[in-house]
Amino acid sequence: MSAEGSPPSLYEVSELVRTFGHGPHAVAAVRGVSLSVQQGERLGIVGESGSGKSTLIRLMAALDRPTSGQIRFRGRDITSLRESQLGFLRSAVQLVFQDPRSSLDPRMRVADIITEPLRSRLLRHRPDVPTDSRQRLAEVMDAVGLPLSLARRYPHEFSGGQRQRIAIARALAPRPQVLIADEPVSALDVSVRAQVLNLLNSLVRDFQLTMVFVSHDLTVVRHVCDTVAVMKSGQLVELGPTEQIYANPQQQYTRELLAAVPRIP
Ligand SMILES: Nc1ncnc2c1ncn2[C@@H]1O[C@H](COP(=O)(O)OP(=O)(O)O)[C@@H](O)[C@H]1O
Ligand SMILES: [Mg+2]
Repeated sequence: MSAEGSPPSLYEVSELVRTFGHGPHAVAAVRGVSLSVQQGERLGIVGESGSGKSTLIRLMAALDRPTSGQIRFRGRDITSLRESQLGFLRSAVQLVFQDPRSSLDPRMRVADIITEPLRSRLLRHRPDVPTDSRQRLAEVMDAVGLPLSLARRYPHEFSGGQRQRIAIARALAPRPQVLIADEPVSALDVSVRAQVLNLLNSLVRDFQLTMVFVSHDLTVVRHVCDTVAVMKSGQLVELGPTEQIYANPQQQYTRELLAAVPRIP
């Protein structure tokens, strides 16, 4: 607890920089981003393509290392840890990617895809990770609305929306605290987007998850986020409660983003 009695942030990101390449061809994908994520918050990260959203969340998931700056997760600086020391983060933070066709191994049965995180060497024997993978498979398939009878099938036997449910079930399997979703509905048919967004909303509520939700589409973010961070060219240009960002955007760039998406009547 801090002096004010408020709980400490789950994530504390400070002055984060990630540059790719060197010299004249260097690309500064993330340029000095600072933000915090509270337990239970649903943070949206929006910005046009190439603004650094995926780079930022890959750093937060420790899939990549920053050029400089710091990321504290539950008070620990994860940027200075070796992979063998990151077990606590690997179980607590799970990701869902844009295209389930490429994120799901086509040669694996759904049951094996979903329970794979439970077999990871780093996560084995962790007290917070379920040990009975058959039981956990049944629980998470139920949670995402897929019948257990489909568990022996392969990803290609499912629709796009169902495949994204499989990816979400896999992310839930190790009982994460944080779900990071990178454009999770952008590759889906418009007709199934709302179903997957509603599913994410109910999972966040039921399992008391913290969610970091990346999208270039502000209408999508509005459905699932309490707070919105707007990125432009690797920098955070605006951050605030979702309704405030919509009702009263402070930056011209945010107004342009809002103008670019079709409004729901
Ligand atoms: N591995 C990489 N190597 C070189 N450049 C990269 C790499 N990853 C991202 N970039 C560059 O960093 C910038 C931000 O990319 P990205 O984080 O994917 O943006 P977004 O997710 O907002 O579309 C882009 O210019 C992209 O080309
Ligand atoms: Mg991206």
